Amino acid sequence: MKFYITTPIYYVNDIPHIGHAYTTVAADTVARYKRFRGFKVFFLTGTDEHGQKVQQAAEKRGVAPDRHADEFYIAFKGLWQKLNISNDDFIRTTEDRHKRVVQDVLQRLFEKGDIYKENYEGWYCLSDERFWMERDLKEGNCPDCNRKVEYIKEWNYFFRMSKYQNWLIQYIKDNPKFIMPESKCNEVLGFLEKPLGDLCISRPKERLSWGIPLPFDENYITYVWFDALVNYISAIGFGYNKDKFEEWWPADRHLIGKDILTTHSVYWSTMLMALELPLSKNIFAHGWWTVNGEKMSKSKGNFVNPNEIIDKYGVDQFRYFLLREVPFGLDGDFSRRVIVGRINSDLANNLGNLLSRVLNMVKRYFDSIVPPPSEIKDDDSLLIKKVEEIIEDIEPLMDSLSFSRVLTKIWGFIDETNRYVDHSAPWALAKSDVNRERLGTVIYNSAESLRIIGLLIYPFMPNTGREIWNQLGIKDRIENCNFEEAKKWGGIKSGVEIKIGKQLFPRVEEKMDTGGKS
Ligand code: MSP
Repeated sequence: MKFYITTPIYYVNDIPHIGHAYTTVAADTVARYKRFRGFKVFFLTGTDEHGQKVQQAAEKRGVAPDRHADEFYIAFKGLWQKLNISNDDFIRTTEDRHKRVVQDVLQRLFEKGDIYKENYEGWYCLSDERFWMERDLKEGNCPDCNRKVEYIKEWNYFFRMSKYQNWLIQYIKDNPKFIMPESKCNEVLGFLEKPLGDLCISRPKERLSWGIPLPFDENYITYVWFDALVNYISAIGFGYNKDKFEEWWPADRHLIGKDILTTHSVYWSTMLMALELPLSKNIFAHGWWTVNGEKMSKSKGNFVNPNEIIDKYGVDQFRYFLLREVPFGLDGDFSRRVIVGRINSDLANNLGNLLSRVLNMVKRYFDSIVPPPSEIKDDDSLLIKKVEEIIEDIEPLMDSLSFSRVLTKIWGFIDETNRYVDHSAPWALAKSDVNRERLGTVIYNSAESLRIIGLLIYPFMPNTGREIWNQLGIKDRIENCNFEEAKKWGGIKSGVEIKIGKQLFPRVEEKMDTGGKS
């Protein structure tokens, strides 16, 4: 069982922001969950380093584009380390292994007659780096970014994308899970109702030099998207490592933001068709983050730097917030008030308190040794039934990337365990030796619930899952556990010595008048 998941490769024209962190954390959570489920996972991320955006950013700083890319890619790599991202590879489009595959792909399509040269005349959006038909323009501006477009006349190379239009429409209709969520699938089908033009895949060197040269014409470089999309196959050996490529292709999931849905579902799919390769199994487009209700931008001063959020609130707090706050697929709004609210209520009050109260009772009543359970009563059976139900529910929800619903379910169980403790009142049981066995059962069940909670939240919050297991005295490494076994009730061994450690989630006291700004 293999599972190949990707994030978009990020432009190195600037430092990473919350949108980049979002896709990567989501992909990491899926990758960790799939590994748990026994899949052999390949998780790919990387940086998109060619093209106009990057060339312009370098020019602005007065450095060469390769040097600029070297400096900025580190910001992404560093952030992924800080966020505990478990990617198996990191591809840069400036690496030789990538450039060679892009040229190989171009050569194959050229020889096949799917790439041809033509004198082009039309509108061009500098910012999006793409051509538009007159009819696409919105009040004379780019329909995507609303910026001014330029009229351009030049010879260029084109990919015969139109040839694959009907085939693609049929494929999408036959495979309803190919593009998700469903609304996005309909959007793409709507887009495909209009005739699909051919895709201009070259840029004359005199206009843009920062890119991969066309193998059949050195006066041109490759259009940045035709270069970038190939990363999904260049990283796994297309054309140079047959075994590796066959092991991983097709990709099981491309996670992307909604703005790059057309490039993935239309450009990439038709490129794959032309290469006679199977299409990726699924493209999932998530929504966009605004900040305090506004589009995020440096000029507005509401740019959210993930590094700063992590330093202030913590890695797992940030990961939890991103996936809990907004259903994956919809747009969301970032505000410090909301993240602080989540930390103080869901994390500190509900989960953090549960761990500390249970561990303190193990310490106080049983000298830090987890006691054995004895006779099971209705309350206990209910608790066990509840967790078994939740585990059942989680699997399909994870498959549809309903992270927020999964977390809501897990927190439902945290609340249930808190109620179980309150209701069983161990402090009252501890007053008399007659109730010693019952006290042991309640404490055992509470500790066991926490073990399972640690297990379930691990893909979302790896440090927290690991820390809960450590404090419970569990010796096994959580990342190596077999989920099928570990999810069964009764995994914590009585006789184990707990290790009370640091408080999981300190409460955040913060004046809330700064909005998204630091
Ligand atoms: N380089 C291309 C992708 C090539 S993939 C073969 C690119 N890069 S990007 O850095 O501009 O954007 C990367 C991802 O970040 C996209 O999925 C985009 O949707 C996402 N986001 C950018 N801003 C965002 C928000 N404000 N909110 C959520 N995601 C956002 O596009």
